[in-house]
Amino acid sequence: MGTGLYKWLDERLKLAPIRIALLDEPIPGGASWIYVFGSVTLFFFLLQMITGMFLAIYYSPSTEHAHASIRYIMDDVAFGSFIRGLHHWGASGMMVAIGLHMLQVFLYGAYKRPRELMWIVGVMLFILTLAFGFSGYLLPWDQRAYWATQVGINIVGTIPLVGDVLVRIIRGGQNLGAMTLNRFYALHTLFLPWLVMGLIGLHLFILRRVGPAGPWDEARAAQRSEPFWPKQVAMDAVAIGIAFILVVGLAVASPAPLADPANPSDTTFRPRPEWYFLFYYQLLKYLEGPWEVVGTLILPILFFSALFLLPWLDRRKERRPASRPAVLSAGAGFLLIVFTLLTISIREVASLPKQDPSVLRGKQLYQELDCAGCHRIHGEGGTFGPDLSYVGDVRDRDWLIRHFRDPQAVVPGSPMPAFGLNEQELNDLTNYMLTLKRQP
Ligand code: HEC
Repeated sequence: MGTGLYKWLDERLKLAPIRIALLDEPIPGGASWIYVFGSVTLFFFLLQMITGMFLAIYYSPSTEHAHASIRYIMDDVAFGSFIRGLHHWGASGMMVAIGLHMLQVFLYGAYKRPRELMWIVGVMLFILTLAFGFSGYLLPWDQRAYWATQVGINIVGTIPLVGDVLVRIIRGGQNLGAMTLNRFYALHTLFLPWLVMGLIGLHLFILRRVGPAGPWDEARAAQRSEPFWPKQVAMDAVAIGIAFILVVGLAVASPAPLADPANPSDTTFRPRPEWYFLFYYQLLKYLEGPWEVVGTLILPILFFSALFLLPWLDRRKERRPASRPAVLSAGAGFLLIVFTLLTISIREVASLPKQDPSVLRGKQLYQELDCAGCHRIHGEGGTFGPDLSYVGDVRDRDWLIRHFRDPQAVVPGSPMPAFGLNEQELNDLTNYMLTLKRQP
C-alpha cells in the first residue's frame, strides 16, 4: 500500500530530499529505546496544542466567565471533561518526558561540543514549558488557581530591587485580577506556543545539521550506524503510544479538578502549586527572613546559569559517565535534593486534615438542588434569597435543620421550598452551611 500514492506525490512534490532529511538521518550506534524521550516530549506538545485549541472554543478568559466556562466544559460539552483531562494530564506528561529527555542527554554527555547550541535551545524550551505550566494553572480561575498564582507572584515580589516592577508586569496592575487573567491567557495561547514552535524547529534543525550524539562509547558509535527510519521511528511510535494510553487512562479515571470560583476575600484557602513546582515551594519554606533571597533569586540564578553553561563546565571530550564523576555527582545530588523536598512536601500535603466528607456532600447537594438559583455565596448565585456567605455566623445547627425541614414553619410565609430531604441530607447541608463563616 502507499507506493502508488507515494509515486504520484513524489512526481509532483519531489519528496526524495525531504524524505532523506526527515527519515534517513543516520543514528550512530543504531536505534535505541533510550532515545525516545525527545519524540515523546514533542508528542505531548502537539497533544497540548490540539486539546488546547478545542478548549479555547468554549473557554472565556474573563474573571466573570472563566470559571463558569470551565464548569460548562466539564458538565455540558460533549467530551469536554475528557479533552480537559487530556490537557491537564498532558501537561504533567510533558514535564515527565522533558525531564527524562534532559536526563538522557545529561547522562550521555550529548550536550558536548559540537552540540552546545542544541542544548541551549533545549534549556530555553524547558524554561518555556515551566512558563506554560504556570500560566495555564491560573486560567480556570478557581481557588487553587488564584491562590497558587498569588503565591508565585509573591515569590517574584521578594526579589530585591526589581521585584516590584516584575510583579506589576506579571500582574498587569495592582491586584491579581482581570488584567492578570488576560495576559496569562495571551501568554499561554499566543506568545508561548509560537515561541516554543520556533525553538522546537531550531532544536530539530540543529539536530539534523550536527546529527545525534549516539552512545558515549566512541568506538561503538563509529562501528555502525542505522537510519532513523524504520527502527527508531518504530521505537518512538511505541513510546508515544504508551504515553498516549497513560494520559487517556488518567483523563478518564481522574478528571481535571475544578475548585470553587476564585474568591480573593477567602484567605483560608491553602494554596498548593502543581507537583512540578512543589519541591521549590517546599525549599522556600526553609529559607525565611534574610535567607529568602537565597531561595527566590540566588539559587534559581545559579541553577539556570549552570544549566545553560553546562557544555562549558564539562568541556572535556570524554562522554563516558564513569569519566565525568564531578558532573555526574552534581547532577545526582541535585536530583536527590529535588526528590527529597518533593517527598517531604507530598507527605505534608497528605497529612493536612481532609475536608469533612459530610461537608463535601452538603456542597454537592447545594449544587444539585440549585440553591444558587436564589442564594448568593461570595458573589456567586441569585439574589432572591438572603446572601449565605456568612450564614454560619448567624444561624445555628438546630435552626438550620428545622428551617430546611420546613421553611414556612420557621419563617412564616417563606417562599423557600421544602426540599423533602432525609435526615442525612439535612445534616450534610447543615454542616456545609456551618462552614460559611467569616473566621472558620
Ligand atoms: C425559590 C428560591 C429559593 C431556593 C431555591 C432556596 N432558597 Fe433558601 N431562602 C429563600 C428565601 C426567600 C429565604 C428567606 C426566607 C426564609 O428564611 O425562609 C431563604 C432562606 C434561607 C436560609 C436562611 C438564611 C437566614 O440567614 O435567614 C438558608 C440557610 C437557606 N435559605 C438555604 C437554602 C439552601 C441550602 C437551599 C438549597 C437546598 C435553598 N436555600 C434554596 C429562597 C430560596
